[in-house]
Amino acid sequence: MGRNGVGKTTLLNTVMGVLPARSGTVVFDGRDITRMPTHRRVGLGMGYVPQGHETFPHLTVLENLRVTWEAGTTRDKSVIDEALDVFPRLTPLLKRRAGFLSGGQQQQLAIARALVTRPRLLILDEPTEGIQPSIVAEIEDAIERLHRERGLAVLLVEQYLDFATRLADRFTVLDAGVVVHEGAGAELHDERVRGLLAV
Ligand SMILES: Nc1ncnc2c1ncn2[C@@H]1O[C@H](COP(=O)(O)OP(=O)(O)OP(=O)(O)O)[C@@H](O)[C@H]1O
Ligand SMILES: [Mg+2]
Repeated sequence: MGRNGVGKTTLLNTVMGVLPARSGTVVFDGRDITRMPTHRRVGLGMGYVPQGHETFPHLTVLENLRVTWEAGTTRDKSVIDEALDVFPRLTPLLKRRAGFLSGGQQQQLAIARALVTRPRLLILDEPTEGIQPSIVAEIEDAIERLHRERGLAVLLVEQYLDFATRLADRFTVLDAGVVVHEGAGAELHDERVRGLLAV
């Protein structure tokens, strides 16, 4: 968590290998992956949903999912159905071009696309930012179920304190590129944390 521009996205990009680490190490499952290319991190089980719910706008919903499936290592096509089970709203839209979906539907597609690689760690950057309120709860519930029912680890950048408090075991607050506070999810309601996040 942290105010606008403190480096949350930059940190996630570094964790995924989209940006090189200038210092420090990235460790996944006890293994140093600091210099590993992004596609190999995906192969290890890291799935990334970048900020801004970007999809391939000229491809259909199904094609968006298939592109990720074809780039991945799993030959099991049932992963596409598994991803769609998480967001039933997408099933009647499979033949629609992603560019014609609403922002909320595009975000659901972006998360479903990351699930096609069967990640063990799902990394999400402000998944409900700019999404119409009626779909925010659906996206939050899906993330919570992926964590509690399918056992996915979740690394989430989130601006909504209530959702972060409900979901998080641990939290970290950044300011100007530096960790300024860390703690257990329940402590998110402390005055001090609220002060660090206030605009
Ligand atoms: N550790 C750092 N040291 C120096 N500059 C940084 C660091 N982390 C990020 N920056 C720079 O700060 C700017 C904002 O970073 P970034 O987009 O990661 O912030 P953010 O917290 O995701 O913002 P937003 O809330 O708007 O999404 C970028 O120009 C980035 O290059
Ligand atoms: Mg950001």
